[in-house]
Parts: sequence; structure tokens; C-alpha cells
Amino acid sequence: MISDLWYKNAVIYCLSVETFMDANGDGVGDFEGLSRRLDYIAGLGVTAIWLMPFQPSPGKDDGYDVSDYYNVDPRFGTLGDFVDFTHGCKQRGIRVLIDLVVNHTSDQHPWFQSARSDPKSPYRDWYIWSKTKPADADKGVVFPGVQESTWTRDEKAGEYYFHRFYKFQPDLNTANPMVQEEILKIMGFWIQLGVSGFRMDAVPFVIAEKGAEFKKPKSQFPMLRTFREFLQWRQGDSIILGEANILPEDNIQYFGDDGDRIQMMFNFPVNQSLFYALASGDTGLLVKALDETREKPQTAQFGQFLRNHDELDLGRLSKEQRQTVFEAFGPDKNMQLYDRGIRRRLAPMLGGDQRRLELAYSLMFSMPGTPVIRYGDEIGMGDDLELPERNCARTPMQWSDEPQGGFTRSDNPVLPVISKGPFSYDHLNVAEQRRLPTSLLNWMERLIRMRKEVPEIGWGDYRVIDTGKPGVLVMRYDWRNNSVLIVHNLYPEPVEIFVDPGCGEHSNLLIDIVDSESSKADDKGQHRLLLEAHAYRWFRVGGLDYLLRRTEI
Ligand code: GLC
Repeated sequence: MISDLWYKNAVIYCLSVETFMDANGDGVGDFEGLSRRLDYIAGLGVTAIWLMPFQPSPGKDDGYDVSDYYNVDPRFGTLGDFVDFTHGCKQRGIRVLIDLVVNHTSDQHPWFQSARSDPKSPYRDWYIWSKTKPADADKGVVFPGVQESTWTRDEKAGEYYFHRFYKFQPDLNTANPMVQEEILKIMGFWIQLGVSGFRMDAVPFVIAEKGAEFKKPKSQFPMLRTFREFLQWRQGDSIILGEANILPEDNIQYFGDDGDRIQMMFNFPVNQSLFYALASGDTGLLVKALDETREKPQTAQFGQFLRNHDELDLGRLSKEQRQTVFEAFGPDKNMQLYDRGIRRRLAPMLGGDQRRLELAYSLMFSMPGTPVIRYGDEIGMGDDLELPERNCARTPMQWSDEPQGGFTRSDNPVLPVISKGPFSYDHLNVAEQRRLPTSLLNWMERLIRMRKEVPEIGWGDYRVIDTGKPGVLVMRYDWRNNSVLIVHNLYPEPVEIFVDPGCGEHSNLLIDIVDSESSKADDKGQHRLLLEAHAYRWFRVGGLDYLLRRTEI
């Protein structure tokens, strides 16, 4: 029964159809291309794919401005191609999550066009209007420096409309029962076409009270239960993975006391403090974020990640902490974005140093929850800072050293392929790394395999074991009589630590599951571990008899 909760021990791979693989040679990635690359994705060992928006859209926010929720953008293919893709995933045992962008539509959506044209339109009340410009219209913009206001006057409507994000993304009036019903219908539609759930965009804004009259908008949490219930009735194993950059104390409201709201959320506090730990060599803040996000219902789960398609948002760190991360990973103004984050990909942040990349991914994969990686991470792809805003980290997948990195036969790819510097496609690509046993790609495949074999992380409880060294993180996970001990050395130099795993008689032996080195405790029950610079060690506690103790999940 419990194995039905597939998302508790999953590895999620996020990609954009647009920049993954172009089959028809028009320069734009498509579902046919993606389907042809499914064996590559399956080979990595991931268990689920998260697709970024692929519905028809004017494309002003990379598809996060949808103009038709029930179709595939013709640039990417047809609904038929989509179903071919979900079928291909099913055959390979891979689940599909898709983005659900319902906080707002595109201003080109027929609902908005109707709403603005006529005060009596049935869609008028699907959006948020105000006759005058609200006094706080310039507060709460999500993209400072690019977006000026959250209220814009529409000439045709003769009124101001509310938009939390860019002005071409009018907010839906999600409190309107008709809008809620439509959201359910959209979910129901894609569920029928083979998806296992949704990455819900901008959840705190979806559920916020909206309108000029709300000075301190409250969250309408019961809405999350409505979505969840509907999904479960239609298809029991489908989930919602929420994008909610919130304070830890609110987590339980999103998951629901009884786990009856959304099943998953990205763990933004851990994400930010993990980068701080990498930048400062001090794990204290990370341990605090872990502790603050510990509490959750049994069936709930966090998505852990390093970089995504947006900027690395450091908005919840203190000014000094943020400055430390900026200095280490994004010192130039051009690398920073929206006064709060870094827009680079991970590999350039870490100077393309494979050892540090391995440390970062190993650390993220060992955080309590389900790891989420992004296309190109597995080969250490770079960025193109000449592209505006977040586009710098959204360049096409680098498959080979052929022209355009093998992404397209066209000379005119939808975004330029990286063709200069150390991250250029001619030497950084899948084909090359497939051949090399020590490549990041082959390492990542092994990491994913190992992570799947350690369900303790997704399911179990953990404790942090103090070694007196702030740059070393030792975590022990326990689940169903099994324990694993995971050690990371964030120092750029070797370090010696002494650890008592604290598992009684089983503590004597630690079996290394990355390399073949084991460790025996001394007569005081301590393990003396010599860690190289940036070392990561994963151990089973108590040796190989875990195979006998292990219960089926
Ligand atoms: C989310 C997406 C981001 C998008 C925004 C507006 O934050 O991750 O890419 O711009 O929502 O839809």
C-alpha cells in the first residue's frame, strides 16, 4: 500500500520541451524530439519528468503566460504527440508532472479578451478589477527592476486590472467558484492524457485573497484541499507539487494538518541555506533550515533542488548572508537579478569544478525529500549571460559536438546554444560524457541509482550528528530498522572527524556505498574518518546484514 506514494522516493527531472530536442528541424524543440530522447532520460534513472509549460502562449514569460489551457503549442507538436510522449514515459515506468499555471493567464487569453471588452462579459469577474489605481499598486512586484506595478490600466475595459507578475499576466480571480471549477477541469483534462500530477505555479498567490479592498490579503487554504480532493477522486496517485516560497511556520497550512492539502512543496529555505553553506563553508544555517522544515505529515514530501529555471532566490537570507553568496557565486552585477538572486547555472557558479559539483549534488540528494534536477545539470551545462533575465540559464540541451550541439538541424535555434568558453557544446556535451567513465553524466547516473536504493531519505527520520566542525555535515537517517550515515565535507581542505553513529550494536561497522571503503569503530565506539577536501561519503550502518533487515517498500 505504502509504495503507492511514489513521490516519496522519486527522482524528478525537469525540462522544457522548447529547448530539449528538435525533431522537425525548425529550431524549436518539440514532443517528437523529446520522445526520441526518452531512452536517454530513462537511462539516467529518473523516475519522473516535470514538463515546463507547453500550452499555446505568446511566449513572453517562457510559456508561463498561457492562452489556451487545453492544447499544445503548435510549435511543440499536437495533443497526439503529447499522448505519444506520456505513453512512452509509461512504458518506461516514468511518471509525468506538468506545470499548472493558474494564478494568471496571458492577456491574450480569450477569457481576458472577453472580460476587458464588455463589463457584462461572463468572464469579467474571472479577473480582478479596480476603477481607480490602488494606492499600493507599486508594492509587491515580483520582478523588481523589470515590472513596475501590480495594477495596470486597460484602455478597453476602462479599469485597472491586477497582475502579481508581469503586466501581460492578468491574475485570475481564483475565489470565483467558476474559476475554481475551470481549474479542476484543466487538471482533469491532463490527467486523462496520462499525467501523474502538477507542479503548481506560484501557490501562495493562487490562494491569496485578491483585490484592491484587501489591505492584508489572507490565504484561502481550503482551496488546496478542493484541488487535492478532486485529483484524488479522479486518479488516486496523482499529486500536486507546489511552488511556494514561504516561511517554514506556514508549511503545515500548505500540507494540511492531516496531509489533506498538497502532497509536495519545494523546500526554498533549505535551498537558500544550502547555497550559503557552500559559499561560507558553514553548515549552521542549513541545519537550522532543516530543523525548521522538519515537521510535516507522514504522506507529505519536500522537493529538494539546487537550481531551477528561475533565478536562485536568496531573498530569505540576511543581507550579510546574501552578500556572502553573491561574492562566492555571482560577484558581477550582471550575474545577479531582481535585487535578490543569482541567475547563473550551477556549474559556472562552481567554476566547472567537478569535485565541487559532485559535493553539491550529493548534498542536495541527501536532503530529506525528493531530489529535483534540471536538464543539462547532469553534464554540468553553463549559461549565457548575454541573454536577458532568466533566459541565460535556459539554453538548448547540448547533445553532441555537431552544429547547434545536436539540438536542431536549423541554423536558427529558439535560444542560442552555448558556443563559447569552457561550457561550449563542442567539448561539453552528452555524447562526449557518455564515453568517459569519470564524466559528470556517468557519475550522476550512479548517484541517482544510489539515491533510489536509499529510501530512508525519502521516508525516514533524520538527525544531525555534531562533530564540532561547522564545515562538516553528518546526517543519519533511520527507517524500518535501517540506518544510513551521510557525511559531507564543505571545507576546501582535508579534515579528520570522529563519529559515533549512535545505533547501538550496529554502530561498529560502516559500509561505504559510494566507494568500497568501510570503517570499523574503535573500542570507544567512535569512527575516525579522514575526509578529503569536498568529500562526500554515504554509509550503511551495521554492514551488509541490512539486506536481511530491509523490508519491502
Ligand atoms: C513562477 C515561475 C516563473 C514565472 C512565474 C510567473 O515563479 O517559476 O518562471 O515567471 O511563476 O508565472
